[in-house]
Formats: sequence, structure tokens, C-alpha cells
Amino acid sequence: MSELLQTELCGMKLSTPIFTASGTFGFGEEFADFIDLKRLGGVMVKCITLKPRRGNDGVRITETPSGMLNAIGLENPGVEVFLSNILPRIKDKMNVIVNVSGSSVEDYGKLAELLDVDGVTALELNISCPNVKDGGIIFGTDSRQAAKVTQAAKSSTSKPVIVKLSPNVTDITEIAKACEAAGADCLSLINTLMGMEINIHTWRPTLGNVTGGLSGGAIKPVALRMVWQVANVVKVPIIGMGGIRSAADAAEFFLAGASAVAIGTANFAEPAITMKIADDLEDYLRRCGLHSIKELIGKVRA
Ligand SMILES: Cc1cc2nc3c(=O)[nH]c(=O)nc-3n(C[C@H](O)[C@H](O)[C@H](O)COP(=O)(O)O)c2cc1C
Repeated sequence: MSELLQTELCGMKLSTPIFTASGTFGFGEEFADFIDLKRLGGVMVKCITLKPRRGNDGVRITETPSGMLNAIGLENPGVEVFLSNILPRIKDKMNVIVNVSGSSVEDYGKLAELLDVDGVTALELNISCPNVKDGGIIFGTDSRQAAKVTQAAKSSTSKPVIVKLSPNVTDITEIAKACEAAGADCLSLINTLMGMEINIHTWRPTLGNVTGGLSGGAIKPVALRMVWQVANVVKVPIIGMGGIRSAADAAEFFLAGASAVAIGTANFAEPAITMKIADDLEDYLRRCGLHSIKELIGKVRA
């Protein structure tokens, strides 16, 4: 493994700054036959809540011209099952970043406390999921609420706390600044953009939840713009994501100011895409005459 991509983030040692995005890569172990999990910076596992959730009824995913629309509804086995059955299986195979979601500020504190255990590398607070009716979105769209959730998690764990921002806001820099001031160690962005599709034969929305989150190639320019805006106003590192499908896409995010990237929807089309992105990114750095990915971060000549 070359040293070009080795880096660190909030005290985490990373073999590459390439993560897989929550909800698109299961608990990572499903991909062990396709890729070298240790070559990822880490796996942001599917969102975990205090109690198990069965998710939304009806159609949960539909393809769009350049990406997908999903409304899974945070289906997951709950934190107890995660800790007793899943974490022991995966903890030595990869850096485990646990994506958590709650219905109240206290939920985030409780989840952070329960997950402050060996094998969890960091927490990622999902304050931005647009697909549940009983909470989530309010935390990501109100800077005071976002700060409260950040504080609740920070004061309950010794792990790095990554706060994942929603793009469904007027000014993402306000939320980013509030989370940084409240103690976030890192910000990740973006979550999905709210969207909708209607079946013109039935006149019904395609998704059981009516609306869903748009991800994939279509959202890349929006995500890149937001990473650049946020990088200009915070000092904490940023994990950029949204529509990354190639090393060229990833390079744009580093240039915009991201210290690491996460790959989401692209994993569905090509399960080993993260490894190809790592290889191609190394080639790109060599061609640029650079010795480390760190030399690329924030270097956009804007
Ligand atoms: C099917 C699906 C499920 C997702 N589930 C979660 C989740 O549980 N928690 C979360 O924070 N983000 C979730 N996301 C959002 C992704 O982690 C990512 O932020 C978003 O899809 C943008 O990246 P991409 O365009 O590379 O997919 C999900 C996305 C998809 C497509």
C-alpha cells in the first residue's frame, strides 16, 4: 500500500482518506469479498437508533436519471443488537464509524454513551435524515438544535464526534459554524437532497414515504459547492460526499477543502469502486508531482 494516501483525521490513523457513506455499505462485512476493508479510511455503518426500526412501508428506492431517490426510514436492529451481535464481528476488520440518529437531544447523548466502547472508532451524528416522520430533520435545519445535539454527544463519549450536515437548508455555513462551536471534531456533508417522483399511470408518488432523499451523480455539484462554502468558515476537518463516482470527482472535493471523502450510491453500481478510486487517486497525485493527499486539500484557486 502506498503512502500517498495515508493520513490522519481527528486522531484516527487512516490508510486512505476514503470512507464509505452510511446506508450504502451495510455493516461493511458484506463487501469483504470485493475489497480490502483495511484500505478504507473507515466504514460509516448504517444508521443506528436506540430501539430497532423496521423502516418505511412500500417502495423505498427508485432510480433517477443520475442517481437514486431513497426513503428507507432508518431500518436498523437497534443499538443493543449492534453492540452484542454486529460490532464484535466487524470491529477488527475495519475502522467502524457508527452513524446514529435520535428523536430527541437526549437520544443522541444516550447513543453516544452506549457506543463509547472498544471497536467503535468514531461517531457520526445523522442530524439530517429527511426520511422519518418522527424527528431527525429538525436537528439538521436549526443551528441551535444542531448545537444541542452535538453537545449532548460530545459530553457523553470519548470518541471523535463527526456531525453530518443536511443540504436541505438555506445556509449550510450557519449550521456548520454552530456545530463546530458546540464541539464537533469533524463535519461530514452532504446527506441527501429532498426529492420526489410521481407515477403518471397511478398518479401516486413512487415512494411509500411520498418524498425521499436524492443521492448520486446529480447531487455532486451541490455537495461540492457546500463543502467549499463550509471549508471557508470552519477549522475542523470535513469529510466530503455526494455523487462521488471517480478519483476525479474525489479530487474536486479535496481541492474544495475536504480532508477525506465518502462514497455512497456508487457502491451499488460497482461494489469495488472505492479501491479503483484509491488507485486512480494515487496515479493522479503522482502525475501532479505530489507526495501526499494532504497537499491537495483546499488548494482550489477560486
Ligand atoms: C439507500 C441509502 C441509505 C442511506 N442511509 C443513510 C443513513 O442511514 N444515515 C445517513 O446519515 N445517511 C444515509 N444516506 C446518505 C448517504 O450516506 C450520503 O450522505 C448520500 O447518499 C450522498 O452521497 P452519495 O451521493 O455518494 O450517495 C443514505 C443514502 C442512501 C442512498
